[in-house]
Amino acid sequence: MRIAVLVSGRGTNLQAIIDAIESKKLNAEIGIVISDKEKALALERCKRHNIKHKVIKPSDFVNRESFEEALVESLVLEGINLVVLAGFMRVLGEKFVEAFNLRAINIHPAITPAFAGIKAQKKAIEFGALISGCSVHFVSKEVDMGPVIVQACVPIEPSDCEESLSEKILKLEHRCLLQAISWILANRVKVVGRKVLVEGAKYGTLPVNPALEEF
Ligand code: GAR
Repeated sequence: MRIAVLVSGRGTNLQAIIDAIESKKLNAEIGIVISDKEKALALERCKRHNIKHKVIKPSDFVNRESFEEALVESLVLEGINLVVLAGFMRVLGEKFVEAFNLRAINIHPAITPAFAGIKAQKKAIEFGALISGCSVHFVSKEVDMGPVIVQACVPIEPSDCEESLSEKILKLEHRCLLQAISWILANRVKVVGRKVLVEGAKYGTLPVNPALEEF
């Protein structure tokens, strides 16, 4: 299974994928990493691990459609089966979603549909939420609103700030993302409308539902 990872920043989720592949916990190959930002730290991780990578900058294109066309073309050329958005801070529209319908997933640092978009952890703190977490979902046209594969929650304490909450959530993000990829690669994820069922998974568990198995 060839996966692509789309990134914009430091790439700790990418690193979790790299580590899981290198330690043979995840049976996949990263065909390409694509960043929309030249200076993304995630690209340094690719160099260190000898992973093919490329920058596709929206500012090099006349509009969003042509940027997405170039993105899709690169992914198709690499024979990518699954696209993982791991800290990719750009909204993808019709061109991408149609090309990779139910073959692209995103990790979001909140329990969707709450706190969609950027700075989800800050939004949760400012709202005064007492619980937040992360969601791994299929990419749909509505930002952070696609069918949910797995969600995990963490408590928000009065002493929490954006940084401390982000750190707590990030630990679960890495595990949930790896588990979702592994379930998809094992062909256990079925989608009916908005509902996702992971065949054989244990539902009804907290803090992660369905329960993580390998990660
Ligand atoms: C992660 O917290 C991810 O959930 C978030 O960006 C961070 C990237 O971290 N993504 C979004 O907010 C997308 N809406 P990383 O670069 O270290 O993986």
